Amino acid sequence: MTRIFSGIKPTGHLTLGNYLGAVRRWAEVDQHRADALFCVVDLHALTVDHDPARVRRLSRQAATLLLASGLDPELCTVFVQSHVDEHTRLSYLLECVATDGEMRRMIQYKEKAARERARGGSVRLSLLTYPALMAADILAYGTDEVPVGDDQTQHVELTRDLAVRFNQRYGHTFVVPRATRPEVAARVMNLQEPLSKMGKSDDSGPGIVYLLDEPDTVRKKVARAVTDSGQDVAYDREKQPGIANLLEILASCTGGSPEALSGEYRSYGALKKDTAEAVVEVLRPVRERHQALCADPAPVDDVLRRGAERARELARPTVDAAYRAIGLLPAAG
Ligand code: AMP
Ligand code: TRP
Repeated sequence: MTRIFSGIKPTGHLTLGNYLGAVRRWAEVDQHRADALFCVVDLHALTVDHDPARVRRLSRQAATLLLASGLDPELCTVFVQSHVDEHTRLSYLLECVATDGEMRRMIQYKEKAARERARGGSVRLSLLTYPALMAADILAYGTDEVPVGDDQTQHVELTRDLAVRFNQRYGHTFVVPRATRPEVAARVMNLQEPLSKMGKSDDSGPGIVYLLDEPDTVRKKVARAVTDSGQDVAYDREKQPGIANLLEILASCTGGSPEALSGEYRSYGALKKDTAEAVVEVLRPVRERHQALCADPAPVDDVLRRGAERARELARPTVDAAYRAIGLLPAAG
């Protein structure tokens, strides 16, 4: 059976980008057709300035939102990365296979490091080594497919390279995974800055739709979305990035195609109105289920405990095999 793994960082509140680019597909498609694991990757949240209490709170919230989005613990495995030691055990070995140069070439590292330096801050070493940990997340489970948004394809490519290199040097140990992306909304853009990704840890609140935003907040944010100077509604990411983004969001929410939808609108106002309502409807059940799940944290804790147990069982043999293959002396048992 196909093995699927994906993760989400608790660095901020989940956004519409996370949902349309990743989580919805995990719930609607992936968990039904494969043995799928979905992970709140909390160790990754420590690669940038963080507040311990906030990371803890956001980790629980992310897990709750994954369940509210329809992940069913009877069908898939939901867990928290730091509950399974195999991730960090394997990450170190992959750091010994990766090179400094390939880590420094990662776009996300370059962008985040530059932003941090511009603020006068320092860059954590873990921000540089992050892709080794992400590769460990994936490779520990013999993963075939990694469903992610566009921003993660470079990291999955690197994971493939590391798997192939390890296998060549030390003998076949890892399955070589591949990224899968959604047909539309693989890169939802910030409504205020349609040339930048809608990212949850960005500061620009008005351009980001959060999964838990009230319907009226969603309507306001979409109504104020920056559009382009033309008047026609055309699907052209280069010339009309703001309109193209709205068309993609609408298409993703309603199941249409952005090109076809562009022909149905004569005005920006009508497009915004329909997009806002489509988003409100898509998020409604998620908000409602989230509220219900928040009433009692015990069942969510239980899902995470069982998830971590299963994840540990799955990962242990592969990580042990990697330890042996790379030349480490097994502990006498
Ligand atoms: P992150 O928020 O970086 O932990 O991302 C979790 C998942 O959501 C990853 O698969 C990302 O590729 C995806 N994702 C994050 N932001 C967006 C976005 N703006 N558009 C599409 N997918 C996204
Ligand atoms: N790096 C991913 C992101 O920023 C999160 C992530 C960590 C991940 N480990 C993963 C995604 C493994 C897929 C598979 O979105």
